Amino acid sequence: MESELKQQLIEAAILAPSADNSQPWLYRWNDETLELWIDNSRSGGISDQRFVLSDLAIGCCIENITICAHSHNHTCQATYLPSPDKEPLWAASLTFLPTPAQHAPLAASIPKRHTSRSFPWKGPITATTKQTLSNEAKKQEGITLHWLDDTPRYKTALKAMWLAESLRFSTKELHQELFSSIHFDLDSHSTSQEGLAPATLSIEPPMRPLFKLLRHWKIMRLLNCVGGNYLVGFRSTVLPTLLSPALALLTIKQTDRASIIMAGQALQRVWLNATTHNLSLQPFAAAGIFSLGFIQTPAALPPRCQKIGTLMQAISGHHQGLILLRTGITTHRSKTIYNQRRPIDSFLKTSTHCQDFLQPRQKPTQQEMSPTKNIK
Ligand SMILES: Cc1cc2nc3c(=O)[nH]c(=O)nc-3n(C[C@H](O)[C@H](O)[C@H](O)COP(=O)(O)O)c2cc1C
Repeated sequence: MESELKQQLIEAAILAPSADNSQPWLYRWNDETLELWIDNSRSGGISDQRFVLSDLAIGCCIENITICAHSHNHTCQATYLPSPDKEPLWAASLTFLPTPAQHAPLAASIPKRHTSRSFPWKGPITATTKQTLSNEAKKQEGITLHWLDDTPRYKTALKAMWLAESLRFSTKELHQELFSSIHFDLDSHSTSQEGLAPATLSIEPPMRPLFKLLRHWKIMRLLNCVGGNYLVGFRSTVLPTLLSPALALLTIKQTDRASIIMAGQALQRVWLNATTHNLSLQPFAAAGIFSLGFIQTPAALPPRCQKIGTLMQAISGHHQGLILLRTGITTHRSKTIYNQRRPIDSFLKTSTHCQDFLQPRQKPTQQEMSPTKNIK
């Protein structure tokens, strides 16, 4: 493959979404094979103990790479977890073959796709559009996108999202994980190359100082005595969803790591297709993550996750509910500020990364987190 194409594939991969904009992956070219690795310094937090969030992000990268390769007349074949016991951080190997010209309609949406957290959103979203998005998810075996249109399932989903988001503000460990990804030093016009800029959270201006105060666990804990966690959880999930025309649930048949990576691929296809339909989208991962049962520490958490698990089971049938998606039409897109990405070089897996599974979790350097101004 031309080195220019190799570069374009990585540029497409970098635009993939990741939980809290953590971008927890690295790449390495082994001749014509592209290896994707989990970046140990940006993964494995309390919500990512089995790498579910990281594997989802890697799945999104793989789908961007696949679509980009198609648009340059190449097919992409993925081998998941090539060495699961020896190298658990080696998430996938991708090989490419030239093919005759192909139609890749989602390629144009790769740079346009973003997370929007604004509300209210307008509708309606037609049954045909919903079916088109569901068909994208179905392209990965065992993955289904369900539209939660009937009232009982919709209400149960809202409850699961509410409880899960509230839980993120209820324990010191989860609270710390959540707030450590937000760069409160940035002003309301700046965005960040890694992690979340406050401006991208769509918090109402009068509420911003209060939200900033909540980063102190002592204050949060005090407010939790009077239901502060439930109030913040309601504002972050239930309110925006009630003011959006549609809510969908992505489910998986199996919960092994390869299936989660494939679910990431399905998520990205759905998201890109929504983008081509001018639909905004916000994923809500907490309910799925807490209900999967992979969070083992601290010991206080598993029992608190059980109730969320029961609610998720009620809306997922025989499958496992993984991630909820709120979608609709934004009217004020031009004012929205989006998170950016680290420089491409920082994703290259170097020899110093080879031992990274053995190394302790490190914080990204200040330079890597440096803010950039960018309003789209
Ligand atoms: C696996 C996964 C989980 C996510 N969970 C949430 C979530 O619970 N709430 C939310 O607002 N955004 C969520 N996001 C969106 C990310 O925060 C977003 O992708 C990231 O900040 C990069 O921004 P961008 O999507 O605009 O490129 C999630 C994304 C992924 C891939």
